[in-house]
Amino acid sequence: MSKRVRTAVFPVAGLGTRFLPATKAMPKEMLTVVDRPLIQYAVDEAREAGIEHFVFVTGRNKGVIEDHFDRQYELEHTLEMRGKVEALQELQKDLPSAGRTSFTRQQEPLGLGHAVWCARELVGDQPFALLLPDMVFQARPGVLKQMMSAYEELGGNIVGVEEVDPKDVSSYGIVARGAGPDSGFRITGMVEKPKPADAPSNLFISGRYILQPEIFALLSEQTRGAGGEIQLTDAMQILIRTQNFTGVKYDGKVFDCGSKLGFLTANVAFALEREDLADDFRKAIRELGLLEPDAEPRKVPA
Ligand code: G1P
Repeated sequence: MSKRVRTAVFPVAGLGTRFLPATKAMPKEMLTVVDRPLIQYAVDEAREAGIEHFVFVTGRNKGVIEDHFDRQYELEHTLEMRGKVEALQELQKDLPSAGRTSFTRQQEPLGLGHAVWCARELVGDQPFALLLPDMVFQARPGVLKQMMSAYEELGGNIVGVEEVDPKDVSSYGIVARGAGPDSGFRITGMVEKPKPADAPSNLFISGRYILQPEIFALLSEQTRGAGGEIQLTDAMQILIRTQNFTGVKYDGKVFDCGSKLGFLTANVAFALEREDLADDFRKAIRELGLLEPDAEPRKVPA
C-alpha cells in the first residue's frame, strides 16, 4: 500500500510582477476571486483531499499570509458582539487547526524547483502534495482529491493535467501521454515551456502534484533551466527514469489566476456559481450589454 499523503506544500514566494501595482505591498496570493483569497482556495482543496499539515514557502512581504491563517481575536469579538454568527463560523471553518501550519522562506527567487526544495526539512521523508495557488479550479470533487484516488490505486508520483490551446504550450510544463485512461495514464516524459513545435502533447501541468521525497535530492543538484530558473519539471524528468509518473486528466477546469485574463474570468465564473450573487450579477452584466451575442460593451462616461 502507498504511504498516505499528509503534507501539502504551497509555494507563495513569487513576486507577482504581472499584477503590479496591486501586488506592490500585498502578496498576489491574497488577491481575491469573489471574496476568498487565492491561497484559501488551494488550502480548502488540500483539506478536502485529507491533508493535515500545510507548509508555506514564503518570501519577504508575505507576512499577511501567515496572519490570514491565524485567529483574529479583535475581529472575532466584534462579529460576535454584532451577532454575525454565520460570518464568524465561516472564518473559523477556514482555519487549519493549531500546529498544522508551517512557514519557511525562499530567500532568493530562483524558481519553482528551488521553492519546493526549500520545504525539504519540513516535509521529511514522505510523499507530499504540491499546490500552486495561482491555479484555481472549478472541480467537484476537488482536483487534488481526484488525484488522491489515482495515488491510492497506483502510488508513485501523480501530476494533474488539462488540455491547453496548442499555441499556449510554451507557457507551461507539458507531458507526453502513454497508456491508460484519463483517470490515470502513464506519463512518458515532461518538458518545461516547450516551443509549440517541440511539445509532446497539449496536456499541460496545471499546478497540482503528488510527489515522492526523492525529488528533493534531485532538486538540490538541479541546474538552471527554462527562464534561468531551477525548474521542478526538469527534476521530475530525471525522477521518471526510476519512478512511475501518472497523469490525471481530472474532471474540472482551471483558471490561471497568474494571468489577468484567467483571474478576471475566474471572478466571473465563481460569482455566477454563488447563490447569494449569481442573479444580481447576471443582471448587472446584462445591463452592461455583455450577454447579447456580439454586444459591444456599454461606454463608461469619461
Ligand atoms: C509552473 C511550472 C509549470 C506549470 C505551471 C502551472 O510554471 O513550472 O510546469 O505548468 O507552473 O502554473 P510557472 O507558472 O511558475 O512559470
